[in-house]
Amino acid sequence: MSGIKVSPVDRPLEEGWTLPASWYSDPAVYALERERIFASAWTYAGPAEWVSEPGSYFASQIGHVPVAIVRGKDGELRGFVNVCRHRGHLVVSGQGRRETLQCPYHAWTYDLDGSLRRAPRAEREPGFDPSGLSLLTVAVGVWGPFVFANPDPDAQPLDEWLGALPAIVAESGLDLGVLRFHSHHEWPIGANWKVAMENFLECYHCPTAHPGFSKVVDVDPDSYRLAVHPTFSAQIGPVRASALSGNGKAPYVPRGDVSQAQYHFLLPATTVNIAPGMPNISLERWLPDGPARTVEVTDYFFAEDAPESEVEELMAWDTQVAEEDTSLVESVQRGLDSGLVPQGRLMAESEQLIADFQRRVRDALD
Ligand code: FES
Ligand SMILES: [Fe+2]
Repeated sequence: MSGIKVSPVDRPLEEGWTLPASWYSDPAVYALERERIFASAWTYAGPAEWVSEPGSYFASQIGHVPVAIVRGKDGELRGFVNVCRHRGHLVVSGQGRRETLQCPYHAWTYDLDGSLRRAPRAEREPGFDPSGLSLLTVAVGVWGPFVFANPDPDAQPLDEWLGALPAIVAESGLDLGVLRFHSHHEWPIGANWKVAMENFLECYHCPTAHPGFSKVVDVDPDSYRLAVHPTFSAQIGPVRASALSGNGKAPYVPRGDVSQAQYHFLLPATTVNIAPGMPNISLERWLPDGPARTVEVTDYFFAEDAPESEVEELMAWDTQVAEEDTSLVESVQRGLDSGLVPQGRLMAESEQLIADFQRRVRDALD
């Protein structure tokens, strides 16, 4: 995109300074991020079990791009930009099973392979050629119970992009094969998406801001491990022995096959959360919704036979953390918006994952 100028980074990130505060509200930065980061990013789109049968589909959004994930009659999983080639209405919504993909605005009707089958009154239009009006495709990939999508149809395959992540997840003791989709939640947040990601990327705030969390997970810097990988970063925390003993102080007793807490960040805006205890995972995508707003979209997965009371207990623990985080990031956004502290100062060890993230954002926008 020519002509877009963002304010320069005055003090270098390499010396511990953060991205400029203005980058968290500037519409020019936001526009450039859509083009340089989100237009070619793999993002978690939804549960694979929603598209297991021929004709099943779901609508989702990855970054700023509405997508439709569709299992064709031929059994092939496909992804489309969920935008009608007529005048832009979203073609499908929700999830379910369909014979065709019909836009609700003027009833242009696409086959499950995305080709335009019928447009009302097309026979009255000389030269109307449906062959050039198929739904645009996006890349899709499946990892265990999760479907990912990428607006770039020529994206590197998902499994290459995931790299070592599935093996690291397996080390937690979690078997993805036992998990079923449980519930979907959306949280609006009054902060730029990068503020939310940076908050996810450090547990330096855990002892002060998440007392309930810190009673279950050992957040001491000598125990809680941080690691940067080529396309993701990993945080792995052991369980506190005092939580396991069930002495009543921890919000839940993390008994079960999963022996670690794991929090992974897949560039640019998907997070993977595993709590210790029974088999569980939540996948989140963080959707930028304007320069200073984000929607956190969470899908929880548990084993089919998990007792609902224990599921509720774990989700309550997690929701508490999410509410604490929302209040933190909204406060940070207000502080950044003052413009009076143009760059913050990171802690090199405890905030190394933020430093890596910020360097990648800077390099993408430079
Ligand atoms: S916008 Fe879809 S049919 Fe008109
Ligand atoms: Fe937090």
